[in-house]
Amino acid sequence: MSIDRRSFLNHSALFTAATTLPARWCRAKDLPVNRKLKMRFAVASDLHYGQANTPFVKIAEEMVGWMNKEKQGKGLDLLFINGDLTHDNPQLLLELRDKHLSKLEVPYYCTKGNHDYLDPKEKSPTESWKKIWGYDANHTVTHKEFAFVLADTSAPAKSNVYRAASREWLKAEFGKYAKAPAIFSLIHIQQRKHKVCGWPQHGVNDVNQVEEGEAVMSLLETTPNVRGVFHGHNHDQTSMWISGDRRYFFDSHVGGSWGAAKGYRIVEIDELNRMVTYQVNAEAGEELNRNDLP
Ligand SMILES: [Fe+2]
Repeated sequence: MSIDRRSFLNHSALFTAATTLPARWCRAKDLPVNRKLKMRFAVASDLHYGQANTPFVKIAEEMVGWMNKEKQGKGLDLLFINGDLTHDNPQLLLELRDKHLSKLEVPYYCTKGNHDYLDPKEKSPTESWKKIWGYDANHTVTHKEFAFVLADTSAPAKSNVYRAASREWLKAEFGKYAKAPAIFSLIHIQQRKHKVCGWPQHGVNDVNQVEEGEAVMSLLETTPNVRGVFHGHNHDQTSMWISGDRRYFFDSHVGGSWGAAKGYRIVEIDELNRMVTYQVNAEAGEELNRNDLP
């Protein structure tokens, strides 16, 4: 029986780590415990700094503490803060940056989320993402031989639209790093609509965005060296979803008023480029789940 790609995706629903995988895929539990790591990075998201009735200062201090502890412990090369750093007030981006993120002992990069508002006033210190962070909301970071492609899915303040990333920009960036052993993509909003293939809530929703989001996912799933896609935004999600051959990971949340246990995600790459990722429940101080990145 032949089956086209879309049909496969529509019928594939959700796979889990327990799914039978082709033999070439190395499972996390098979990796030697004492393997030498080449690189270790973290993904955390959704601080919602400034949200009313949340202890947002304490939350920011806690996240900085978690990351510095990782750095001092097993080591940490980079941190990606995957959107919704703040809650609906441009000034808070500066306050968070200067009062809290400045205490991080690890280089960090920020994806723009739907609650990270800019100030449209010309010459305002928060008129653009670049003015605040030194790079655009669509931005690629390279470290060692790896590329980290941070894509903007945010709409103008208060428009309440969950946008698809720019497929054209992603395609151009993936082309630049076609020879990298791995590309990781960080995209705040899930690019698949709720319920399609059983996917969770809070993905793209408008008709146009849904179509563009599926096109973005098709690109992610047909670019051979994209090894992992990381989403924030859905505070309830802590684990992995698969579409095509691509693995998509959520990292719960750091702040805000709702969601699963607070925490962050770690990715470890060893000398042979074998990769694992696991979610940390930071409230309990324990690993929550673990998956390989084949
Ligand atoms: Fe969000």
